[in-house]
Amino acid sequence: PPPPPSADPLAPLREAAHLLRTTPVPVAFPTETVYGLGADATRSDAVRGIFAAKGRPADNPLIVHISDLSMLRRLLTPSPPQQQQEHQPAPQPVSSPSSPSPQSHSQPLFTADDPIPAIYHPLITRFWPGPLTILLPRPTPSPLAPEVTASQPTFGARLPASALARTLIALAGAPLAAPSANASTRPSPTAARHVRDDLRGRVALVLDGGACAVGVESTVVDGLCVPPAVLRPGGVGIEELRSCPGWEGVVKAYEDREHAVVDGAAAAPRAPGMKYKHYSPRARVVLFEAGGRGRKGVVGPADDAGELGKTVGVIRTGGWDVAGGLRCAGLREVAADGEGDPGFVVREGALLGADGTEMGCRLLDVDLGEDVRAVAHGLFAALRELDSLGADVIFVEGVSDGDDIAAAVMNRLRKAASEIRA
Ligand code: TXA
Ligand code: MG
Repeated sequence: PPPPPSADPLAPLREAAHLLRTTPVPVAFPTETVYGLGADATRSDAVRGIFAAKGRPADNPLIVHISDLSMLRRLLTPSPPQQQQEHQPAPQPVSSPSSPSPQSHSQPLFTADDPIPAIYHPLITRFWPGPLTILLPRPTPSPLAPEVTASQPTFGARLPASALARTLIALAGAPLAAPSANASTRPSPTAARHVRDDLRGRVALVLDGGACAVGVESTVVDGLCVPPAVLRPGGVGIEELRSCPGWEGVVKAYEDREHAVVDGAAAAPRAPGMKYKHYSPRARVVLFEAGGRGRKGVVGPADDAGELGKTVGVIRTGGWDVAGGLRCAGLREVAADGEGDPGFVVREGALLGADGTEMGCRLLDVDLGEDVRAVAHGLFAALRELDSLGADVIFVEGVSDGDDIAAAVMNRLRKAASEIRA
């Protein structure tokens, strides 16, 4: 039955916050990038619950999500972890999801002796709240549970743009450690049902905030080294970082699968998580670099379809024309991303050989369009949708590798792919 009209609209958030304060089982919540699997970052038992639920290697540190800058400053001030105070009164939350962002106050954001390092001030001013994670020195003693940082001398912090996420953190009254809420190695979740598919029974609650607006994770930056470095490309583009004072010379210190191109001093990826297998659907992913195999259709899949088995998924990003290039019959819509925000539909048909006869292959076709933001928004959901429709192989049309969100899209795809073709 529908809730009575007087029901507290924040009730699900209050329940989630209560669980976060009192149980060691994580709570999944939406952010503007991907869904996170959250726990009180000051409590070891709660943080260990995240690693257990995800099957995540313990040497991969977690991002700490905060609701405002004063919460961040407390994490930069030496102080021991709090003994968990049961039912500590939660501070007044951001009053409603439409309330102004924390950046809209008129007083200056930073003081002269601010514990937040000055190198980050322009980034915080410009990109927070938003899809940017900054590395900060971890004080000794630190209020953070040691498991959060996996023995790194730094911790990653992020002020999410999602008002739902910020309200949850404020209600919990504690910073939330949260990795993406997928099972380890799977594509990150951009809808509540993706979390349920992966982690059903292992989370206390999944807050449903609909589809994530950005669709790829935050950009992780280290401003504590010289020159500053991008450790993971994400929702904030490198060209946007470069336009900030002190960040003109920012270098890339991450590795794409086929691109050992690391233009910083570091030879190995410096975000520990970047070395693991990632973002993978069950189906084999074959990535074509942008412009690969020409515009006249997806020649690769057509050639390979016979040997590739029964169901061929295709994710297009504006250049490929499947209906024209792959000869197929009976294409009809079989699914959408289904989150009240349909970024794509899946069409199904039968592949035809050169002589026009059916090859016994099923085609599942997704067109994400040529706007790279829309591609980022729909990418993980498309990989998951094709998986659940039974794709054996997924051919993906890459996007041009720019210094914008395209870098994040191609980074995720290169890691998901078992084969990359020019
Ligand atoms: O958008 C996001 O960042 C999402 C949402 C939930 O906020 N979170 C996310 O978390 O993607 P996760 O755990 O899937 O990825 C965190 C990345 C990993 O590559 C990790 O190694 C890196 O950030 N990282 C975290 N703390 C770090 C640290 N102290 N030093 C270096 N890398 C760090
Ligand atoms: Mg992740």
